[in-house]
Amino acid sequence: MCGIVGYIGAQNSVPVLINGLESLEYRGYDSAGVAVLSEGVINIRKTKGKVANLRDLLLEQPAAGNAGIGHTRWATHGAPSDENAHPHFSNDDKIAVVHNGIIENYQELKARLQEKGYVFHSDTDTETVAHLIDDFYKQGNDLLESVRKTLNVIEGSYALGVLCTDYPDQIIAARKESPLIVGIGKGENFIASDIPAILKYTKDAYILGDKEFALIKADEIKIYDIDGNEVHHDVYTYSWDVEAAQKNGYDHFMLKEIYEQPKVVSDNLARRFSEDGKHIELDGIKLGKAELENINQIYIVACGTAYYAGLVGKYLLERMVRIPVNAEVASEFRYKDPLIDEHTLVIVVSQSGETADTHSALKLAKAKGSRVLGVVNAVGSSIARDSDDVLYTLAGFEIAVASTKAFSAQVIAMYLITLHIAQELGTLDEKNFVEIKNALMKLPSQINDILTKAVPAIRGFVDKYIGSKNVFYVGRGLDYVVGMEGSLKLKEIAYLHSEPYAAGELKHGPIALIESATLVVGVVTQEALFDKTKSNLQEVKARGAKVLAIAMQGNTSIEEVADDVIYIPRTHWMLTSVLANIPQQLFAYYMALGLGEDIDKPRNLAKSVTVE
Ligand code: G6P
Repeated sequence: MCGIVGYIGAQNSVPVLINGLESLEYRGYDSAGVAVLSEGVINIRKTKGKVANLRDLLLEQPAAGNAGIGHTRWATHGAPSDENAHPHFSNDDKIAVVHNGIIENYQELKARLQEKGYVFHSDTDTETVAHLIDDFYKQGNDLLESVRKTLNVIEGSYALGVLCTDYPDQIIAARKESPLIVGIGKGENFIASDIPAILKYTKDAYILGDKEFALIKADEIKIYDIDGNEVHHDVYTYSWDVEAAQKNGYDHFMLKEIYEQPKVVSDNLARRFSEDGKHIELDGIKLGKAELENINQIYIVACGTAYYAGLVGKYLLERMVRIPVNAEVASEFRYKDPLIDEHTLVIVVSQSGETADTHSALKLAKAKGSRVLGVVNAVGSSIARDSDDVLYTLAGFEIAVASTKAFSAQVIAMYLITLHIAQELGTLDEKNFVEIKNALMKLPSQINDILTKAVPAIRGFVDKYIGSKNVFYVGRGLDYVVGMEGSLKLKEIAYLHSEPYAAGELKHGPIALIESATLVVGVVTQEALFDKTKSNLQEVKARGAKVLAIAMQGNTSIEEVADDVIYIPRTHWMLTSVLANIPQQLFAYYMALGLGEDIDKPRNLAKSVTVE
């Protein structure tokens, strides 16, 4: 959500900013702009729509300069428009600001500034920041101190980039809760919401901490806390290369990421077992027997796809560890005064590590004394930093808004956490452990199998069902959870109305919506529940529905009730979720492709949701 990039150095900043903004497009946005400083003047070019529109605007009205800040805006305050696009100027065009986040007290600040004579040209909360810095500056503070004073006044979340005509040799950056890194070059430096924006130029960065700000010159970076004390950070070197942030021949990032799953799963399983193969070893987790025995309940908290991965964890942990587990979406958890204490383990799951609701849930859990285990993909992200223990999901960059490989990695993390806790608490014997471990190790090649063999059939089903207006995903137990994720994918990228339902619950309402040719995707990989779900599919079939089933190889009797079946390779009951989800991802992808939708950047959605 919103992307920031900034540059200072010997190059013309404009191409760096535009390339950077293009690399951040995945975050979701609806307008784009740049501010560049040259010969004592800041030129702003901004426009509603895509970065391509901004490129066109820059051809009509060129701008250049060695210092610049750029922004992609995802509208929160005020509609997507040229005026509301960032950067925003102070009234005399001296100071330009880009911002990601929400200034919660902006109305009160705006009223005060208006009384002082400041004129606002946009509906945004961000413009307040430009005027506030200007106000402190006019009171005689230097730019850095004016920014610091502003940070002490604004409430909410922010990643900021600031440019001022009186300081052509510097940009200032600040962050609280919204991500921002300072990229370290040779004779040039950068700021960015995320590393892909600057990966072409550097892999080294300082990850700014909460309520920190930085003074960035071409050959110098200084970082301060909110009180103005200088702080020192280690340089973080990203291991990813430019390739990782490119499509590499695939039509879409989503497809590339779907095909990366065998590797992601195998990376997540590598080095997770002790040498004798009899134990799980999770780097970064210090939850041993003593800590776990102190816990009497678990909460799993997340948003979107990460929440569904968490739900897989709930089903597994309850079954294998026999401990009460609640899974909650973070936006509900944080406002319901949850019944948690120092005897609760809270597992937060997040790809980006920056989702505002999940991060707030984490802070609430810590305030109540609970131990927080973060399952996070983005290294150094807010959630990773604030968790007591972190299990990194090693999925690499995920660029498509609709999450695929990160989900698989999160589900593998749930498997590993379950096995670890079950072993520590003695609820899993060695024989079963070894059986599950052996099944886990087969997953990468089984995913590969689906990816190489299932696509023609899935494309055929897409052709057959592309006219569907309503789709139901039904299943029981873990299959129900997998259906939730399948349904979400279809909504996100194909814009099809779809609903996941517990198969046994269909008759309590949704079955009334079944009519001729309604598509019902039945997930039936849980053999213990196979007959039950099969009967439910029989019921919808009898009412005219078309049934597309996802079943395990060998369970061919499903063909008695299904119009079409996608078989996944046989595995342990615990592990079917990852495999059953792969055909769902492909189905949603090819549906969206067939419908001509913008697969990697679906309307209204953002990759990293940094507002409530
Ligand atoms: C957004 C993304 C989803 C993601 C969710 C949670 O809605 O579009 O793909 O699952 O946020 O994000 P997180 O980064 O916390 O996993």
